[in-house]
Amino acid sequence: MSGGLEFDEDTSRKVEALYLTPDVVEQRCLVLKALQLREGERVLDVGSGPGLLAYDMAASVGPVGRVCGIDISEDMLAMSRRRCANQPWTEFQRADATKLPHPDDAFDAAVSTQVYEYVADISTALAELHRVTRPGGRVVVVDTDYDSLVVYTSDQARMERVLSAWGDHFVHGGLPRTLTGQLRDAGFTIRQRDVVPMFNPEYHDNTYARRMLAIVASFVVGRRGVSQEEANAWLAEFSELGEQGKFFFSLNRYLFVADKIAVR
Ligand SMILES: C[S@@+](CC[C@H](N)C(=O)[O-])C[C@H]1O[C@@H](n2cnc3c(N)ncnc32)[C@H](O)[C@@H]1O
Repeated sequence: MSGGLEFDEDTSRKVEALYLTPDVVEQRCLVLKALQLREGERVLDVGSGPGLLAYDMAASVGPVGRVCGIDISEDMLAMSRRRCANQPWTEFQRADATKLPHPDDAFDAAVSTQVYEYVADISTALAELHRVTRPGGRVVVVDTDYDSLVVYTSDQARMERVLSAWGDHFVHGGLPRTLTGQLRDAGFTIRQRDVVPMFNPEYHDNTYARRMLAIVASFVVGRRGVSQEEANAWLAEFSELGEQGKFFFSLNRYLFVADKIAVR
């Protein structure tokens, strides 16, 4: 995880609220559509976080299927176990994406959304993903490219200071740009790639932009010289812009679908 964002209880709750916004609900629909899960299938969720996707996947595969989630954060694991308590065909284990606790070819499908950008050793993580997916199985990976962020501000210098401090929260800020090659190097065949925009041209409460900007404001305090006052002023500008009808936010995530080709 890199000395960046700690997925402790407080952050886990904020991430859960962020991921319940309609923007991220829509992303989960796209992930489920790409996965095409069938009843009885075995699915792995790498970095299962608050368990929102695991819950939906468990509904798709049903009690004769299996959903396994792994995560390095005990607070996230507790949240996902609570969420899926009435789906006993789910299980959540503490493990690292680079060392999956599952046998070879164990899953029909595997998914990892918004996780690999925090994992330093991507080639080992993707090799592990390939190892545990059965021949003929498929994977879906979603990550953000933070250079795709477009936000209106009247104070560009302050924006750059804040974003430079926010840059400490991930290991790979532009992972989607290299994922095609990295998935191929791990042995996968790319089937589909899509952009998933988080586009909020209004500053409304239940939006990805508003909740994400609040997480950024609390993370950056004390990093790279950003003070509490500066972070507060940075965040306050978005409320003002929202009231004036001038708020604008766009950030792209990218979705990859890849297959582990069965050897004949
Ligand atoms: C932004 S959250 C995404 C959660 C979930 N995949 C989702 O989309 O709802 C990132 C998650 O990745 C987990 N994570 C980060 N580094 C990890 C690693 N090396 N191995 C396993 N999980 C990791 C964090 O604990 C956190 O739960």
